[in-house]
Amino acid sequence: MHTKRTLDEYIIENQNSIPDAAGEFSDLLRHIGIAGKIINRIVNKAGLLDVFGNGGNLNATGDEVQKLDLYANDLMIEYLQNTGVCAGVGSEELEQYVGFESRHNRQRKYVVVLDPLDGSSNIDVNISVGTIFGIYKRKSAVDDPVDIDDFCQKGEALLAAGYILYGTSTILVYTTGNGVNGFTYDPGIGEFCLSHPSMVIPETGKTYAVNQAYYSQFSNEMRNFIDKCAGMGLVLRYAGSMVADIHRALCQGGIFLYPSTSKNPDGKLRMLYECNPLSFVVEQAGGSCVDERGRRILEIPITQLHQRSTILIGSAALVGEALSQYR
Ligand code: AHG
Ligand code: MN
Ligand code: MN
Repeated sequence: MHTKRTLDEYIIENQNSIPDAAGEFSDLLRHIGIAGKIINRIVNKAGLLDVFGNGGNLNATGDEVQKLDLYANDLMIEYLQNTGVCAGVGSEELEQYVGFESRHNRQRKYVVVLDPLDGSSNIDVNISVGTIFGIYKRKSAVDDPVDIDDFCQKGEALLAAGYILYGTSTILVYTTGNGVNGFTYDPGIGEFCLSHPSMVIPETGKTYAVNQAYYSQFSNEMRNFIDKCAGMGLVLRYAGSMVADIHRALCQGGIFLYPSTSKNPDGKLRMLYECNPLSFVVEQAGGSCVDERGRRILEIPITQLHQRSTILIGSAALVGEALSQYR
């Protein structure tokens, strides 16, 4: 008999523990889960569809956009709009946020931030990709159009955040600020089922993840830490999708680093769509997340939708060790 709780059951059971959330917030979370199932279906049969290859465009921050990125982006936004579960969306793939105009959407209290497909260079070669999401309560008045301040909120204002990793199995991991839970997708019943309750990141770990090809561009402090990693018994694992690398760290302990480089002096990864949601999850699991200046990621003020940051994220002891090089 099937005994594991589904995501929907879990969300409903826990909706009372989230202050001020009630049904609207639960509904939004459930719909993000459904959108994840739809993207999962497409990712899983990508080789059979005409979705491989570069879509021929650049996204708002200049990266090459793969076709599936665009597809996932359009799909998520259209779905969240049509189901009327939120007031607007900010996406890594779009220069501007999208405010939903219908009366029903404008009455919603929440906005969503998204990296629809993270690690898109992995798509064509059947390696893991992910979706990252975060939910904020809007600052503008309900019934008004959303504005940029609804999105430019610090990570510590997130009400919920998580990711879906399309890996050897598909798993949705999320937090509402009360611990982290993981739900593995069971294709037989078409549901995410609770497989990783109360996830806790080990204090330390055995892997570090960084694009070491940029070593010569890193600060001396970062190079010193990387030089120490092997001596600490760590091995290098780098998937090219931070969702996959951070999921590994969450399960087994480890650290993910995206430091300053000459090409990206402020780091490459976006605060709103990548760093903040994943930092919220990792902190809720007991880990640490800082930038190269030692600032807690979730406390960094957000002034632009596509603001980037350096990031050191993962097991607390490893992040502490990395940061100690800077002092
Ligand atoms: P995206 O596919 O959403 O643009 O994100 C890719 C990100 C991150 O997931 C990954 O860790 C990093 O970019 C890889 O960058 P490099 O190729 O510079 O290492
Ligand atoms: Mn990404
Ligand atoms: Mn992306």
